[in-house]
Amino acid sequence: MPKLIVVTREGEERALDGQTGHSVMEIIRDAGIDELLALCGGCCSCATCHVHVDPDFAAKLPAMSPDEDDLLDSTSDRNATSRLSCQLPFSDALDCLKVTIAAED
Ligand code: FES
Repeated sequence: MPKLIVVTREGEERALDGQTGHSVMEIIRDAGIDELLALCGGCCSCATCHVHVDPDFAAKLPAMSPDEDDLLDSTSDRNATSRLSCQLPFSDALDCLKVTIAAED
């Protein structure tokens, strides 16, 4: 099973089993990492699933929608690696994708 590597706000790194077809947000949430609030449940309307993605994987990720872009603009910790994890479908091609949970707003 492909792995998703998650770095928490405390700097703890965890390797999770990545279910293909689930979003990165769902994999993190289902692993019990509750600092990723994901308040809207993946509807792209809250930005509480904000992560920073390893730039090496940027080309393998789907393009950012205007809605995702707008929501990320509302966060204080946005940078060039920012994505909303609910908008990232996980797949075998993303094996060992590393994401870092962004600072809380
Ligand atoms: S869970 Fe709300 S925008 Fe991702």
